[in-house]
Amino acid sequence: MEFYTLIENRETIRVYDSEKEIPREVLTRILNAGRLAPSASNRQPWTFVLVASESKLEQVRATYQREWFQKAPYIIVVVGDKTKSWVRPKDGYNSIETDLAIAMDHMILAAENEGVGACWVIAFDYEMLAKAIGLQENEVIYSMAAMGYPPKGFQKKGNKKRRPLQEVEREI
Ligand SMILES: Cc1cc2nc3c(=O)[nH]c(=O)nc-3n(C[C@H](O)[C@H](O)[C@H](O)COP(=O)(O)O)c2cc1C
Repeated sequence: MEFYTLIENRETIRVYDSEKEIPREVLTRILNAGRLAPSASNRQPWTFVLVASESKLEQVRATYQREWFQKAPYIIVVVGDKTKSWVRPKDGYNSIETDLAIAMDHMILAAENEGVGACWVIAFDYEMLAKAIGLQENEVIYSMAAMGYPPKGFQKKGNKKRRPLQEVEREI
């Protein structure tokens, strides 16, 4: 898809066709888009946890009690290691959250390009999710995304609500 069209058309999708599996090669291309994301000092401090088995999906879905999320056919959890990410020497700022957000955004845009619906989720129960995915020492989670094909006949809203460019840009 043409890049600007993709950005304009992408929207969060929270309804999925539970009968339609995402082929492994499509999932691989989406995960690979995350792998190719830039990160501070190219540290790549991430792991992408693909949740696809029914037993694990059940545990991960339980960390975010929304009806639609209980039907998410696939979930990708972006995990980072704070000891691997870049730290600004002068003030100790750790770039981990920025790096992980960029990787997630790459995967969300790749999903759009594949015709896969996705919803970024941050309002989960952290302790529950850490336990469900077996989070290791030094690892942190900032977000996960539900993914699945939208049901047949699904129509996007097509009404992106965004502040106008004149309001968000400032030239100095
Ligand atoms: C960092 C981040 C966290 C989000 N967390 C949630 C969430 O926990 N639950 C949810 O339903 N949507 C979540 N969303 C989706 C946003 O609500 C959505 O992107 C926003 O309303 C703009 O709509 P659009 O994606 O359709 O353009 C999140 C999005 C981002 C970028």
